[in-house]
Amino acid sequence: MIDVSSGIVPVIPIDREAAAPLHRQVYAGFREAILRGDLAAGQQVPSSRALAAELEISRFPVLDAYSQLLAEGFFESRVGAGTFVAASLPHQAAHSKRTTEESPSARRTSRRSMLFPPYDPNPWRHGWGAFGVHQPALDQFPFDLWSKLLARHSRTLHIHPSNNLHPLGLMPFREAIASYLRTARAVRCDPQQIMVVSGSQQALDIVTRVLLDPGDAAWIEEPCYPLVRSLLTGSGCHPISIPVDEDGLDVAAGVRLAPAARAAFVTPSHHYALGVTMSASRRFQLLEWSRQASAWIVEDDYDSEYRFDSMPIPSLQGLDPCDRVIYIGTFSKVLRPSLRLGYIVIPPDLVDRFAAVRFAMDIFPSYLFQEALTDFMHEGHFARHIRRMRSLYKARRAALVESLHAEFGDFLTIHGSEAGMHLTVTIPESFRAGIGNGARSGVSDSARGGFNDVDIASRAAREKLWLWPLSQCYTGKPRQGFLLGFSNTPEDQMPQAVRRLRHALQL
Ligand SMILES: Cc1ncc(COP(=O)(O)O)c(C=O)c1O
Repeated sequence: MIDVSSGIVPVIPIDREAAAPLHRQVYAGFREAILRGDLAAGQQVPSSRALAAELEISRFPVLDAYSQLLAEGFFESRVGAGTFVAASLPHQAAHSKRTTEESPSARRTSRRSMLFPPYDPNPWRHGWGAFGVHQPALDQFPFDLWSKLLARHSRTLHIHPSNNLHPLGLMPFREAIASYLRTARAVRCDPQQIMVVSGSQQALDIVTRVLLDPGDAAWIEEPCYPLVRSLLTGSGCHPISIPVDEDGLDVAAGVRLAPAARAAFVTPSHHYALGVTMSASRRFQLLEWSRQASAWIVEDDYDSEYRFDSMPIPSLQGLDPCDRVIYIGTFSKVLRPSLRLGYIVIPPDLVDRFAAVRFAMDIFPSYLFQEALTDFMHEGHFARHIRRMRSLYKARRAALVESLHAEFGDFLTIHGSEAGMHLTVTIPESFRAGIGNGARSGVSDSARGGFNDVDIASRAAREKLWLWPLSQCYTGKPRQGFLLGFSNTPEDQMPQAVRRLRHALQL
């Protein structure tokens, strides 16, 4: 038994002005003292009466605190002897080192977790406003209607006996998604193939878990959506960057670089980040390679609802006779990213594997938004909202292109403005190298040399201008430029936003 300074009153700080009630303060004071090692296992604590007198408070809060500490096993009472710090508390628990004092090896995390690039809260990702990428026009969203639908489903708990708690999601929602995809995206699917997920990022994660093993090679686009690269690296796979030209992914280069890759992750309708649409011949080449190599194609159709100057491009999945394409879509762009709702269209023979993996992850997706969105789709609001946003974004895109021409002449090259919610501008190579064509472009020579889109984007974020640096999308030698969202900026504010952009570029 430890030498005890029985009954000595420990220092319990009491603040009568504090929001925390007195019994909570007494409880926390003892708990902290035990965890710090100031009170040892087996040591007697003062009687409730003595402590109350010492602290000049009533006995009730002390009794409450003691009964809580007894219930949690920090204290024990011995008949006729009083109350003690539990003798069974491990000595080292009280004296255990604080996490900051331990060696890094003692606090090792899995090698798998270390494969993920560090979480870097890039400043440009976190603001909402001018040029923010993937930011829908929330001021145009039918919030009243949406809250009515949410309220409708919050009031009653719907039990769906046939598909309750299904890892693929709510069947009426999956039916609505399948019907939308068949009509609007020429996806060949039935509701049994649809898995509801929390955004396309989770879809990419699940697809990777089901289809790839650590060590497997997978094609990604160069440039690419950076979180695809992070996900594959973090999963122990080898992402192989395949160049993208004006026809989309260069399949011949892929076959040269990694013929035996297990999968190709592509954005064929609207390449992220240059906006190219994959040509029909490349689509057939890609499908042919996947058939010959027994590889999977992951089609990330992240923003294809918005195409401005032609009909939407039908999905790659719809062209595939061999069920080798896994199709991914999201509601983040049409509704909003914070909703975290998306879907996977799974080849029929893989549905069970996907369900097994999903069940061990988060069991099944939350229902409320699925229910509300099912009604939103069935009642025609979804299609109406897309139509409205398509014409709104078309006007906003035109205003951005016009303002860019007015402000920069032909200095910046614009890519991928035919579709989606952002376009991309690149900076001339000659400018970056400091060999100016400033006189011709009307842009001053003063800012030449050392152009770095990441530095500029970080600086611009402090001015509440949200530019996404293009270089971040490259694995190899990067091009410099910016992704500029236009969906969130009204037309009449566009000229001023573009003037601020020029200022941010220090031109
Ligand atoms: C190409 C691409 N894929 C996937 C995602 C992930 O989107 P979410 O998880 O919000 O659906 C994004 C996000 O913007 C994207 O641009």
